[in-house]
Amino acid sequence: MDRGDFQETDVHRGLDSTLAIFAPRLKRTAVKLERRFAPDLPRICAHPGELNQVWTNLIDNALDALDGQGTLTISTRPDEGGVAVEISDNGPGIPPDVLSRVFEPFFTTKAVGQGTGLGLDIVYRIIRAHHGGDVKVSSQPGETRFMVHLPFNPPKELN
Ligand SMILES: Nc1ncnc2c1ncn2[C@@H]1O[C@H](COP(=O)(O)OP(=O)(O)OP(=O)(O)O)[C@@H](O)[C@H]1O
Ligand SMILES: [Mg+2]
Repeated sequence: MDRGDFQETDVHRGLDSTLAIFAPRLKRTAVKLERRFAPDLPRICAHPGELNQVWTNLIDNALDALDGQGTLTISTRPDEGGVAVEISDNGPGIPPDVLSRVFEPFFTTKAVGQGTGLGLDIVYRIIRAHHGGDVKVSSQPGETRFMVHLPFNPPKELN
């Protein structure tokens, strides 16, 4: 299990500590949080600090999209060979031409000084390159969903 900084990781604990950081921001808005955590989610071998960066970036984007109102939904479930985490919002959605580029480094639709466009590039690298997982996005007006799959154990060659 212990490989470098990888350790037995409780994904719910990381999500909750990330949500705690966003609590003041959530409080200032009318955004509703739907927390749908699977009971008995298995632990995985992961880098918890890096996963917190992933949740931070995905929640930050969802809250930006919601612009003060709507619902942020975070759900987890056991998944084939690992666990799945979904972070979704019922904001305006991502137009198709933007959707195909969201994971590109420095791609942003935000105003200068508002976003560097690195958030989802970091997410992609942490999940895919470092954990051997996968991240997918689907979006339509009123529903944007980032789906993260994390394997129980990252492939040996990755870390
Ligand atoms: N939940 C979402 N709803 C609508 N658009 C989104 C959502 N998540 C990401 N995007 C789009 O994807 C772009 C890239 O996201 P990314 O997190 O990489 O950069 P950013 O948020 O613009 O800047 P940074 O994260 O570096 O502060 C955003 O500018 C936005 O257009
Ligand atoms: Mg971002």
